[in-house]
Amino acid sequence: MTTDVEASSADLRERMVRGLVARGTIESPDVEAAFRTVPRHRFVPEVMAADAYEAPEAVFTKHATDGRPVSSVSAPWLHARMLEAARLARGMRVLEIGSGGCNAALLAEMVGPGGSVTSVDIDPDITGRARRLLDETGYTRVRVHTGDGAKPLADAPPGGWDRIIVTTGSADLPDAWFSQLADGGRLVVPLRFRGLARTFAFAWEGAHLRSYTTIVSGFLAMQGQSAHAPRVVQLADAEVRLTVDEGQPADDLALRTAFSASRCEKWSGVHLTGSEGLLPRLDVWLAGTLAPYGRLRATQGAAERGLVGWVLGTGAAAVWNDESLAYLALRNAPAKPGYFELGAIGHGLDREDLAVTLTDALARWDATARGCGEPVVRAYPRRGTEHPGGVTIEKPSTRLTVS
Ligand SMILES: C[S@@+](CC[C@H](N)C(=O)[O-])C[C@H]1O[C@@H](n2cnc3c(N)ncnc32)[C@H](O)[C@@H]1O
Repeated sequence: MTTDVEASSADLRERMVRGLVARGTIESPDVEAAFRTVPRHRFVPEVMAADAYEAPEAVFTKHATDGRPVSSVSAPWLHARMLEAARLARGMRVLEIGSGGCNAALLAEMVGPGGSVTSVDIDPDITGRARRLLDETGYTRVRVHTGDGAKPLADAPPGGWDRIIVTTGSADLPDAWFSQLADGGRLVVPLRFRGLARTFAFAWEGAHLRSYTTIVSGFLAMQGQSAHAPRVVQLADAEVRLTVDEGQPADDLALRTAFSASRCEKWSGVHLTGSEGLLPRLDVWLAGTLAPYGRLRATQGAAERGLVGWVLGTGAAAVWNDESLAYLALRNAPAKPGYFELGAIGHGLDREDLAVTLTDALARWDATARGCGEPVVRAYPRRGTEHPGGVTIEKPSTRLTVS
């Protein structure tokens, strides 16, 4: 007998699936079928079924004692985008890192009874929760392990995993993900680099990985062996901050002093409309072109008091040297209604030069990369023998390039 709760959750699920298909988030019939089958609300009993299906963001399922969220079940749109990017097929052997239960169930639907899904989480509370919910919903064949997903898994299949799906924000690609990924395998991973966060789907290109899909997304940071907190330089207390990753040198006091001095503005003649959605791509392209590169972020209050130019909430590309810095800014394009113009604001002794470094890069992007789709990220294991030229982003286990 179908209860009212099940009937209404089935309606909610159907509405969610239709919405995801209508918006183009779900593209393939297999992903659509998996979403129609998995009872998402049973994996987030912490919230009402309507929130499970309709909330546009993740549902947090565990908080640390200081209130920080440490685990969640990701939003439906993000599950869908990552499943599409993974290009799964029946019979595949899949490793999921970070266990909410829901995504593992979707993966199990996609690979079918002939495939296998193993989910690893570092937190025993989370694996206990995932195991219980997967059993209650009938996904008993999903294996759940407690452990650090950055380390090799003892019971990886011979030849490696066909897919590794990481669902926690990583600052590196540990060796295990290269060595345990099968020939022809694909890795989907939320990666932080130079203050940016993107989820990439990678496939092998010889001995390194090449991205073929980029998703703008935020994830809870990875814990354990690969945990890495970004360095933050406070330019104006906590109100204006510069995020510096990968050990790039930055003198806190000198940059703070530079920021408190007068500024210059340079405008590039490069225009955008709000609807083009090009800024996230530009940010990744600049991160692979400029060195050093970081992200300047400012509070609303700092913006209102004129401490910074017009920067978006997600932050602005920034460059610096020993005693000066410059960051990317926007303005309404003079004499071009409906358009924004990109430019740079510089502070410190070398403010003019650094601002020109940014505006020159903007002009190069406009001329050579703007129409080329998502920038391509390549990931080279540092233990390998390949050494790419140009600007490289140095991680403990991997070296990234962007083109
Ligand atoms: C966003 S949640 C996972 C979402 C889940 N896959 C779902 O169904 O939506 C991220 C999880 O990653 C886990 N995690 C963090 N660092 C980890 C690590 N080094 N190895 C394995 N799991 C880790 C956290 O404990 C947390 O439960």
